[in-house]
Amino acid sequence: MIAGNWKMNGLLEDSIGLARDVAERRRALADAPFDMVICPPFPLLTVVGEAIADSGVMLGAQNCHHQDKGAHTGDVSPALLAALGCTHVILGHSERRDEHHESDQHVAAKVAAAHRHGLTTIVCIGETQEQHEAGRTLDVVKQQIAGSVPKGSNPANTVIAYEPVWAIGSGLTPTPDDVAKVHDMVREDMCALFGEDMGHTIRVLYGGSVKPENAAELLALDNVDGGLIGGASLKSDSFWGIAEKCL
Ligand code: PGA
Repeated sequence: MIAGNWKMNGLLEDSIGLARDVAERRRALADAPFDMVICPPFPLLTVVGEAIADSGVMLGAQNCHHQDKGAHTGDVSPALLAALGCTHVILGHSERRDEHHESDQHVAAKVAAAHRHGLTTIVCIGETQEQHEAGRTLDVVKQQIAGSVPKGSNPANTVIAYEPVWAIGSGLTPTPDDVAKVHDMVREDMCALFGEDMGHTIRVLYGGSVKPENAAELLALDNVDGGLIGGASLKSDSFWGIAEKCL
């Protein structure tokens, strides 16, 4: 899976243009053996959804509320996301955990809510620079998985994205060996949670400064099943430059 997280970027016309271009290339490569998802800001979901219609590119959001509806000013329900044509929603991104103080427990409640509405969740986990330097990466990631992946999750409705916080938007990436260590542990955890068969089929993405230049090496790792792409998803050439490494 190649997923694009546009974050808080793009206005109307440029976003429609980007979505059209991504979709056009996907139509030309209809048999390419990967799923592609793009996650624009909320107000662009409808127009981006129209731009990618029937292309095979799927629509995702970047967050949702943990309740189905109600008095929650400024929030968006998973029910509305599903009604707007979203199939995916990113939850627990480190920017939400940090800027909006989202705990594992809160993320888990959002994941469960999204599942109730048939959305596939892309659940983000990853250690901070400080935790990385203290050698706590594996512990932190393990704890985030235990806290953020609720009962009822399975390989059909859940994708895990390992994103070291210090690698996001920084141009830094862990060594392939370090990425492999984390992904191998996440795979073990998934097998423990879901059983051997299901644990092997759940997708575990890597995210954090993935670009066309480093994608081949990262995406080739055994337990890396795709990428969650931020900055490089804002241009069709770089997004597809990454996706083409899966061909
Ligand atoms: P980046 O962001 O590719 O710009 O590092 C990835 C993400 O935060 O999902």
